[in-house]
Parts: sequence; structure tokens; C-alpha cells
Amino acid sequence: MTDLIELTDVSVTHRTHGGGLFGRERVHALTGVGLTVAAGETVGVVGESGCGKSTLARVLVGLQRPTSGTARFRGEDVWGMTGAHRRASVGRGIGMVFQDPSTSLNRRLTVRRILRDPLDVHRRHSPADRAARVSELADLVGLPPSALDVLPGQLSGGQRQRVAIARALALEPALLVADEPTSALDVSVRAQILNLLLDLKDRLGLAMVFVSHDIQTVRRVSDRVVTMYLGRVVEQTPAGSLPDGSRHPYTRALFSATPSLLDPVEPIVLTGPVPSAVHPPSGCPFRTRCWRATDACARAMPGVRTEPGAAGHEYRCLHPVLGAADLAAGSPATPRETP
Ligand SMILES: Nc1ncnc2c1ncn2[C@@H]1O[C@H](COP(=O)(O)OP(=O)(O)OP(=O)(O)O)[C@@H](O)[C@H]1O
Ligand code: SF4
Ligand SMILES: [Mg+2]
Repeated sequence: MTDLIELTDVSVTHRTHGGGLFGRERVHALTGVGLTVAAGETVGVVGESGCGKSTLARVLVGLQRPTSGTARFRGEDVWGMTGAHRRASVGRGIGMVFQDPSTSLNRRLTVRRILRDPLDVHRRHSPADRAARVSELADLVGLPPSALDVLPGQLSGGQRQRVAIARALALEPALLVADEPTSALDVSVRAQILNLLLDLKDRLGLAMVFVSHDIQTVRRVSDRVVTMYLGRVVEQTPAGSLPDGSRHPYTRALFSATPSLLDPVEPIVLTGPVPSAVHPPSGCPFRTRCWRATDACARAMPGVRTEPGAAGHEYRCLHPVLGAADLAAGSPATPRETP
């Protein structure tokens, strides 16, 4: 498979006001992230709130410039391009669906204008064909023609998200990045929107990056699952190996927090808060909550290890979980936390 996008050692820090010696602090939103997405592949991204999922999504679509490291789209350095070339290449080639369609769509424009806008900006098709393309897009996402002449506020949340998906697909991207695309919607329509995304992915041959808190859904819809913790990618697991094949204690803990009926697992209770992204712990960022941590975990971020015989399975942990018996045994040095 050809890589559409490749992130190498990408870090993003934000300067914030308040606190710190000089009244400003640096938030480490992403640190040393390496990730590729191949054509047609679905990559799921999971992790607790604040671990950097949305920042990663914004880097992938070229909305966020990395503080360091490189992002390549179809082999070209995204931030080495001129602004115009970046908009033409990345802007056309990657679509994004945000969490909340009430805020991501311009509430003053009709749906027709919203869908036509990217076609006008990128001068796609002749003006007459643009009108036909708008109708085609509405049809593609299951919006009735009558929805084209209303404002987003006159539609239901689910229909608004259909508009956002249609807009993201307007320029026929090769990759769709969806950042929690169902979490702001009523529970009753979440499955419909998820199924729509999966159906479109298959029909259009899209690659997709799917960000979600819901690790069970991510596992079901993805080819590969990326686990993030405090701005780091700590594991990438082929979905077929989950949950028992995952090696990183944090991936195990995420699965144990939402066991599926078919795969009941013993709950792993994590104690303590997620550390601050302003002052992340030295070494492995998970060590303050990890029941397998040893002194060595505090020294340096563990390097990337690859799982033999499992293409694409990588993790960063000094004491990986190698099996159910190993999980029950806890760390070589520290007893396992019990509820
Ligand atoms: N513009 C910003 N300025 C300062 N800090 C920011 C900014 N954007 C994100 N952050 C911080 O960067 C870290 C990562 O945020 P991000 O939104 O990427 O996390 P997330 O995993 O998407 O969280 P959630 O699940 O709540 O959506 C957090 O500590 C967040 O507070
Ligand atoms: S065992 Fe050590 S390296 Fe592995 S996740 Fe726990 S703290 Fe990190
Ligand atoms: Mg987010």
C-alpha cells in the first residue's frame, strides 16, 4: 500500500497564559509522533480526553503546523509547500469531519452554499456542473433535496453531520479524518452516522482516520488502532490482534474499562490523575499510573518495539503485557493495583 500521509517525530507545543515563572507555559499537546496512513486504510485513534487526538487530527489535515518534525502528504513536506500549493494539495486531498456540526458549519449559509463553497474556492467543475455536484453530494450522504435550501439550524443534529460529511467529500479526497464524528449526536443517530461513514469509505475507496473515545467501536471499524497517552503514540495494534494481542499496559487498561460482551476481561483499575501536559513525567508518561512500572521506566521514553510476526504492531513499553497470565502477575517489581 502507498502511504498517503506520513508523520515523522512530530511534536506540537502550545504557549498558554497563566502560571509558570514568566506567566507563560508550554503545553505538550503532541510529542515525537510517528504515524503513517496508507491509501484505503482505516486507522482508529483512542485515548483519554486531552491526550492529543484532536491535535493529531489537525496535524494530519494540515490545519496545525508541527512545532517540530515533518508531515508529508503523498511524499511532499506539507509545511515546505507554499500556502497556495498546500491548500490545493492537502486541502483537496484530505477532508475533515469535526465533532460538533452545530459549530463546524456556517449557520448563516444554506446547505447548498455550504456544499458549493469548496467547489467554488477550488474551481472544480464548470459552474453548471457544480450545481449538479451539490445535488450528488446530498444524495451521497442521504440528505433529501429539500435539505439543500435550509440553514443548518433547521436540520436535526444527524442531518447536520451529514452536511458536514458531504462538505468534507466535496473535493473527492483520498483521506477523511473524522474527529469524534458521533459524540455530539443523539445516541439514536450515532450508529446511522457511523454506518454512513463506513459505507462511504468502502464505496469511495477512502482512507480514514477515525478518532474516538469508544475503543470498542474503533476496534470494530479500523484496520489499525493507535493508542495515545499524554501526547505520545504508545502503541499501534492491528485491529485483529485486539484486545488480547495488545502489549501496552495502557491499551489493556482502556479495553478493560469497556469490556465487550463477547470478550469479558478483568477490570484494570488505574489510580491517580492523568499528569499535566505542561509538566509531563520523565521517561514513560504512563509510569505514574502504570501497575507494571519500575525505576527504569522513569529514565527515558522507551524506544519503539515491534511485535514479531505482526506487521504494523509497535509499542513503547519496557515491560509489555505478553499474555493473560502475565497480566495477572503484574510488574516484576511492583505489585498490581487492586480495586
Ligand atoms: N490551542 C491550544 N492552546 C493551549 N493548549 C491546547 C490548545 N489545543 C489543545 N491544547 C492542549 O493540548 C492537549 C491536547 O489537546 P487535544 O484537544 O488534542 O486532546 P484530545 O485528545 O482531542 O481531547 P478530547 O478527547 O477532550 O477531545 C490538552 O492538554 C489541551 O488542553
Ligand atoms: S511498564 Fe514502564 S514503560 Fe511500560 S507502560 Fe508501564 S511505566 Fe511505561
Ligand atoms: Mg478532541
